[in-house]
Amino acid sequence: MEHSKLRVLISQEQIQTRVRELGAAISADFAGHELTVIGTLKGCFIFMADLVRNIQVPLNVDFIEVSSYGDSTVSSGVVRLDKDFKHPITDRHVLVVEDIIDTGLTLNYLMENILLRRPASARIAALLVKEAKQSLDHPIPYRGFNIDDHFVVGYGMDYRGYFRNLDHVAIMEDDRQPSLF
Ligand code: PRP
Repeated sequence: MEHSKLRVLISQEQIQTRVRELGAAISADFAGHELTVIGTLKGCFIFMADLVRNIQVPLNVDFIEVSSYGDSTVSSGVVRLDKDFKHPITDRHVLVVEDIIDTGLTLNYLMENILLRRPASARIAALLVKEAKQSLDHPIPYRGFNIDDHFVVGYGMDYRGYFRNLDHVAIMEDDRQPSLF
């Protein structure tokens, strides 16, 4: 696997420190309550696995799959629901976990869908936020890092399905001629 076109943006150590801080904040805010943590597949899977292990309140997990990019590096502008979550969330405190908020389109769609099911509350946790670009209609109370408008991979995020297994976040510097191997 050739990684010559990848540059480290956020190291494994920086991520792990920040995830512990987010977990502590979530634990404090929801002390005395239970949580339903809903991950947005596929990109969330590593962040969510690390985050829930740093949350100290009783919780269950569920997953939803929504896609907006396909194999492109640019948002298609169309959100598609590929897999719905299974457990009822009415009257439960919900934490929606995203790896990255780019345009905010995916989460606007998802939050609308979740709020219709009348949870006790619904909050967002996102590892990365492209602050200059996103037009999300909801606050992001738990955010890992604000980043500039780079195409990033690693720690769950992919390019054409690859690089999700990197333990850090990297910038793909030239995606016009990707060389995966
Ligand atoms: C990514 C990411 C978010 C969404 C953010 O998912 O995981 O769900 O895009 O983009 P937006 O804010 O512009 O809507 P992607 O479609 O790449 O699917 P994946 O998580 O399965 O890789």
